Amino acid sequence: MKSDFKKYQAQTSPHPLAMEVSHANGSYIYDTNNKAYLDFVAGVSACPLGHNHPKVIEAIKKQLDRYLHVMVYGEYIQKPAVELTKLLAKHLPKSLEKTYLTNSGTEAIEGALKLAKRATGRSEIIATNKAYHGNTMGAMSVMGFEVRKQAFRPLLPDVKFINFNNEADLNKITTKTASVILETIQGGAGFIEPNPNYLEKVRARCTQVGALLILDEIQPGIGRTGKLFGFENYNCVPDILVTGKGLGGGMPIGAFTASGKLMDLLQDNPKLGHITTFGGHPVIAASALATLKEITESNLIADTLKKEKLFRELLVHPLIKEVRGKGLMLAFLTPSAEITNALILKSEKLGLILFWLLFEPKAVRITPPLTISNDEIKEGCQIILGVLDEIQQSTTSK
Ligand SMILES: Cc1ncc(COP(=O)(O)O)c(C=O)c1O
Repeated sequence: MKSDFKKYQAQTSPHPLAMEVSHANGSYIYDTNNKAYLDFVAGVSACPLGHNHPKVIEAIKKQLDRYLHVMVYGEYIQKPAVELTKLLAKHLPKSLEKTYLTNSGTEAIEGALKLAKRATGRSEIIATNKAYHGNTMGAMSVMGFEVRKQAFRPLLPDVKFINFNNEADLNKITTKTASVILETIQGGAGFIEPNPNYLEKVRARCTQVGALLILDEIQPGIGRTGKLFGFENYNCVPDILVTGKGLGGGMPIGAFTASGKLMDLLQDNPKLGHITTFGGHPVIAASALATLKEITESNLIADTLKKEKLFRELLVHPLIKEVRGKGLMLAFLTPSAEITNALILKSEKLGLILFWLLFEPKAVRITPPLTISNDEIKEGCQIILGVLDEIQQSTTSK
């Protein structure tokens, strides 16, 4: 299987982890030798209820028996998509009422950028350095990491970059700006939280000049930061909210949400302003609906803050320089990329899944399922501390 994987399935890096998955359940993934791996990554923040959650599986199976794809997005009334968008609206401020469901996060970003241009009649987009918003051409244009996009230029024109958390830079947002796009908590950059009042100031500046604020909550959203949406922590409501990843409960999804007035612009002039065949797919929407219900009807969101506290108490070691992030969107930094690499690879051998962040090579990602238990957190942290002890001993004995 491994040689076929490398030969036939297109790869994104020369050294994929290449674990051969047999099945997954709760906080564990099992390989084909039936070895269990405790999952501190949750499919890169995409499995908030862990693996094969019974309520999600039941919702998917029920929908499988009713119908799969029947029509392109938006033409027919399909209950799972309607109920999902209604439930999102119930948990969002009034101004974020109407949701467009897409196939992925990056497509939702494309939709949000298009909507901002259509609504303002302006073309300039302001993004932040070290931002990650996805990998299609528009989303890549607002990625703040030149090395990863140089080969794909030319990208979108009229995109400018500011530094996240730099208030002086907000003057670059002007009456020419269609939209400002930010991650509520910068992910790839190293789980950087906004400074107190920063997002409020961005919000005020956007309102002042008539630019639309897009918040990308594809990673912090859906309960990971102690609130259902990250922006609720920072007193800042965007004009367009983008979600994805965890919303699908392990199925591929993206969504952008705005007021009815804004969203209706995509129906007209030109009509079919954003179209997709599979967006709002009934099986995926059923999975997302079951996931969102479970997250909002349980204590999982509030518990993320207790679990964060436990992680911060346990993750104390001379090779852990800093723990960043909020709730169960955490990352810690080791002194070097080499130590981070060694830790991630050795931990996997010992049955613990850790992972990297995109643009911060010293960071170790800790984004487990929200359903992870305290005992599982303790079990995983013990592995991390043991491996760090080993690394420390081997570097001091050199
Ligand atoms: C903040 C953020 N935006 C956008 C995306 C792109 O989402 P997708 O991979 O579903 O296209 C990601 C994915 O990692 C992300 O973390």
